[in-house]
Amino acid sequence: MTSGLVLGIETSCDETGVGIVRVDADGTTTLLANEISSSVEEHARFGGVVPEVASRAHLQAMVPAVHRAMTTAGITARDVDAVAVTAGPGLSGALLVGVAAAKAYAAAWDVPLYGVNHLAAHVAVDTLQNGPLPPALALLVSGGHSSLLSVPDLAGPVTPLGATIDDAAGEAFDKVARLLGLPFPGGPHIDRVARDGDPSAVAFPRGLTGPRDAPFDFSFSGLKTAVARHVEALERAGTPVPVADVAASFQEAVVDVLTAKAVRAAREHGMDVLCLGGGVAANSRLRALAQDRCDAAGLVLRVPRPVLCTDNGAMVAALGAHLLARDAAPSPLALPADSSLPV
Ligand code: KG4
Ligand code: ZN
Repeated sequence: MTSGLVLGIETSCDETGVGIVRVDADGTTTLLANEISSSVEEHARFGGVVPEVASRAHLQAMVPAVHRAMTTAGITARDVDAVAVTAGPGLSGALLVGVAAAKAYAAAWDVPLYGVNHLAAHVAVDTLQNGPLPPALALLVSGGHSSLLSVPDLAGPVTPLGATIDDAAGEAFDKVARLLGLPFPGGPHIDRVARDGDPSAVAFPRGLTGPRDAPFDFSFSGLKTAVARHVEALERAGTPVPVADVAASFQEAVVDVLTAKAVRAAREHGMDVLCLGGGVAANSRLRALAQDRCDAAGLVLRVPRPVLCTDNGAMVAALGAHLLARDAAPSPLALPADSSLPV
């Protein structure tokens, strides 16, 4: 195994992330820095991420974030052994900024470049907190994706088992939050207000749970419409909207389906470990229900702490460290940014 220091760059959406990870000869990884600069406040008034705004913010934040990460880690350019970068999927213009920066650093420092998949990096980040990852089933839920992946080995191919056929889970949280008058991004606000609500107050639909539905795909747009209709009906009747109850009932409908399908996929694919990742994995009810259902099914649940679940550079450095340790072939300097890169 090769040991060394890996600098990871993430710019697939609105977070400029730079992480530094050390990997030792025995494969142990240590997180040395995780600098994040977010343009989320610039997008808030639009109710969603504006690609051009995100790209410009990445350009401004990139070099300072790299400097801050190196200062935090107490290293200089000479100490870096490889540069890893999210090559996709994500917003094209946003990805381009990170990929161009990573190429420039790798060329200037004469070290290997590893272009990595954003989804695989979301899974790899778990190793920084919980150690080497055995073969696992991963549930990745964020503003851009909701996927079930079979991950026999982080350095090898990842098999997608299912994904959302419409809105991502985080997108549904953000849209429902907007309906309820909560700020963007709405997931953390729904999580907070739902604590005072009754999750069984409204029986919202569970998408794609019928016997003939794809077992591992998700659908959240019908749920979002059901919440909209419910809120509209209350408003028409002049009844105040019980925000906490509606938020709790919506949240329960999302996490019920996510956890049921994830546990079933793990069992059917012979995996003993379920790993959560993506911004929605910060959701407190998702974590609690996943824990209950994993305990009941005899599965081990691994969930990184919230700051590692949302987009960050540490996850990219973690996957890069894994590739460096395995002496994986580096990417060419012609590495393209691919907005629809498959896992
Ligand atoms: O992984 P991430 O930072 O960026 C994307 O790749 O999208 O995820 C952001 C998403 C947003 O939709 C946000 O509302 C959601 O994750 N989120 C949450 C929570 N924290 C963030 N959703 C539900 N509960 C939370 N506590
Ligand atoms: Zn993500």
